[in-house]
Amino acid sequence: MLDPTDHEFIADPYPALSALRESGAVHHDERLGRYLVTRHAEVRACLRDRRLGRNFRHVGSEDEFNATPLDPRRQDFWDVERWSLLFIEPPDHTRIRKLVASAFTPRAVEGMREPARQLAHELLDACLERGRFDLLYDFAQPYSITLICRMLGVPTDRHRDLLDWSHRHVKMYEFDTTEEQAQSATRAAAEFSAYVRELIADRRRSPRDDMISALVGARVDGDNLSDDEIVSTVVVLLNAGHEATVNTLGNGVCALLRHPGEWRRLVEGETAPAAAVEELIRFDPPLQLFERWVLEDGVEIAGVPVPRGEVISMLFGSANRDPRVFDGPDVLDIGRTNAAEHIGFGGGIHVCIGAPLARIELEASLRALVERAPALELVEEPVRVPAFVIRGFQAVEVEIGTGAEPLVSTVTG
Ligand code: HEM
Repeated sequence: MLDPTDHEFIADPYPALSALRESGAVHHDERLGRYLVTRHAEVRACLRDRRLGRNFRHVGSEDEFNATPLDPRRQDFWDVERWSLLFIEPPDHTRIRKLVASAFTPRAVEGMREPARQLAHELLDACLERGRFDLLYDFAQPYSITLICRMLGVPTDRHRDLLDWSHRHVKMYEFDTTEEQAQSATRAAAEFSAYVRELIADRRRSPRDDMISALVGARVDGDNLSDDEIVSTVVVLLNAGHEATVNTLGNGVCALLRHPGEWRRLVEGETAPAAAVEELIRFDPPLQLFERWVLEDGVEIAGVPVPRGEVISMLFGSANRDPRVFDGPDVLDIGRTNAAEHIGFGGGIHVCIGAPLARIELEASLRALVERAPALELVEEPVRVPAFVIRGFQAVEVEIGTGAEPLVSTVTG
């Protein structure tokens, strides 16, 4: 019913997702061995349903849940995942999320607003001097990784290593991970974790004003984080802290340049960048699918019984284009009043902890691009990364344009 590895589907999944959504709120896909949840109301409800979990190991065995045992050859990878907020359920999740939240405070995030603005301009200075640049490699990647590293207190001299470890790590979340990718992700996890352990040891000796020190020193209700828990937390913050933000900027700016009228609304100040960010996440979200295990008997989704032990896949890109919530859902409209009702940051106990930081980064970078490069245009058709779950481009080559030319992109579609 859905082939998440098909290149045509990856290039533009929305027509197929729309057909699936309009033919039902939930489908059992025998080939994928999953229940696909397609509509906004049902995805939203699943995200908040405590009978569904990102993991099942706290309530049952692998046999009981018919799950493939975690491959011991990938132990380094599983060790890093072990305490990741994205891999655990209450009570561990509640405990660790509280401790992480005590370090990732609204004040610390708000403190990133000015550095985010400054860095966007600094990086653009170099890009604009060259005239033509890759929005991802030259701007979005160094931008996001620098900001999350700065918050955590990770030196930026290793930022290309961090990007490399992260890209290899997240390949494990796709449907069609190859043996080679799995080996590479495992090696990346080992290197990443060894590096983070050095940073933890250093901050234990000499704490600084950064988040790794805050995680090392975090105390809530007499509890603290172990080194293994800090490693998982730092890795998930570093990975989640740039992959999705970079892809939102790539997908979003590309969508704007393909809809020059919408780009012009930003340039002319008709719509604020903060509002546009919500519509860009709705229109082409960087994370298309999240899964849950059914932990209890008696679960029904849209009247369809889903037995304990089954897996459900929530299709975010489909929910974000649900006409029951968004008028003309396939139209990019940066002035859309209810765009922020998108599912892009999830919901329930796993709701994105980094959403306020992502919003600051995306707003600042979009604002800087519009101010500094109002005649920005695509110079070639960007090529998609051949993956469905984490949706992005391999590169987004842009040119600053002359400003004398009309604001139309060379690419249509
Ligand atoms: C546009 C950018 C981003 C998007 C679209 C996004 C999306 C999401 C979504 C959908 C989830 C929930 C997953 C689930 O329910 O299974 C999530 C969780 C998470 N995100 Fe983000 N995210 C973004 C940026 C960030 C940033 C900048 C950070 C960190 C600084 C971050 C850190 C996390 C973490 C740690 C979790 C796990 C929370 C938990 O399980 O309790 N994300 N994100």
